[in-house]
Amino acid sequence: MTDQPGRPPEERLPAPRPSSAPVPGARFSAPPSAHRNDLTPERAAKIVRQSASARWVGFLAVTVVALFVIGYYFYELGLPGGMSKPRLQAATEEQQVTAVERGYNIYQANCAQCHGVQGEGGKGPTLNRQDKLFAHLNPDYIRNMLQVGGRYACGTATSIMPVWSNTGNPPGPLNYKQVNDLIAFLRASKAETFTVRDASKFEPVIPTPGATAQTFTGWVDPAYQPAAGATPYPACWQAEFTSATAAPAASGSPGASSAPASQAPVGAAVNETALNIAFGTAALTAPAGADFTLNFDNQDAGIPHNIVIKDAGGATVFTGDLVTGPKQIAYSVKALAAGDYTFVCAVHPNMTGTLKVGN
Ligand code: HEC
Repeated sequence: MTDQPGRPPEERLPAPRPSSAPVPGARFSAPPSAHRNDLTPERAAKIVRQSASARWVGFLAVTVVALFVIGYYFYELGLPGGMSKPRLQAATEEQQVTAVERGYNIYQANCAQCHGVQGEGGKGPTLNRQDKLFAHLNPDYIRNMLQVGGRYACGTATSIMPVWSNTGNPPGPLNYKQVNDLIAFLRASKAETFTVRDASKFEPVIPTPGATAQTFTGWVDPAYQPAAGATPYPACWQAEFTSATAAPAASGSPGASSAPASQAPVGAAVNETALNIAFGTAALTAPAGADFTLNFDNQDAGIPHNIVIKDAGGATVFTGDLVTGPKQIAYSVKALAAGDYTFVCAVHPNMTGTLKVGN
């Protein structure tokens, strides 16, 4: 445009163009049919209503999902303020109860014959004592006992308690699940009540129609605390008896005590027997202020017994060596002051009697 020499600059401006014809509108818009909606007013109103419903559906759907998420949150993690338990915890507790109830049946079928229906002891040592349950009878220890058998406790190769676990040597009858159930039962809390269930159908046992189901409680007292300064329960249960007798030093040594005659009798003699986990004489008398011999005849084959004498205040004044029947032992008891005493078998706390010293 600027290469127009010889022309004055104003004449070099672009040449004015003749104005073009106006663009026909129809060329750029939809055909007229598109500009008609052909809707009756009713139909138009319906469409408006329908889109409102659709918005409602959407709103409600979002609300439902939101409520579900909130509800599920509390269902899973528990209502605030402890109104309900977290689901996982509740399921664990339910499983624990089931394990304890199964373990109860396994215990009654296999262990009660030796350890007593309530764990009070018998041919085997007591299991239900709080001081033993506190630390001695821990899950690992029980598991090892069942895996290895009775010799695990004190190394007694001839122990009458067999191997129970089917992974033991030789394999016992209980699988790992049954062992776990047993441990759950032995460790169950005294504060909880469980239902006795039929071993095969696992239905509650109802003794007579219409009666309430039978129940049992665990053994472990959750509130139990050993006395301050108490010595822990010995690793070997027999040590409980041997270590206690070392202090009074009054009883005959286990080796030389097979017959009462082998001991020089001191003062008067008092006789006691044990049979069927009971003392033969419930009331004994002894002279006051003089050493005396306590002849003890344990007639319970394979069952350990002894005699522990306690004064009126409950303090132990004499502990006899443990003897496994059938066996006799002569305990030399140091002079006791006149008064009323009680005696008990350390293995079987339900075996008790009274000892009157003096006239
Ligand atoms: C044939 C009798 C007998 C049977 C059945 C029996 N036990 Fe024993 N149990 C014993 C004897 C005896 C001991 C002591 C071990 C020893 O010889 O030193 C013992 C020891 C134990 C101990 C260790 C006790 C302690 O104070 O250290 C535990 C735990 C135990 N038994 C659990 C069981 C369980 C659980 C069962 C059932 C599966 C069972 N026992 C079945 C006789 C038996």
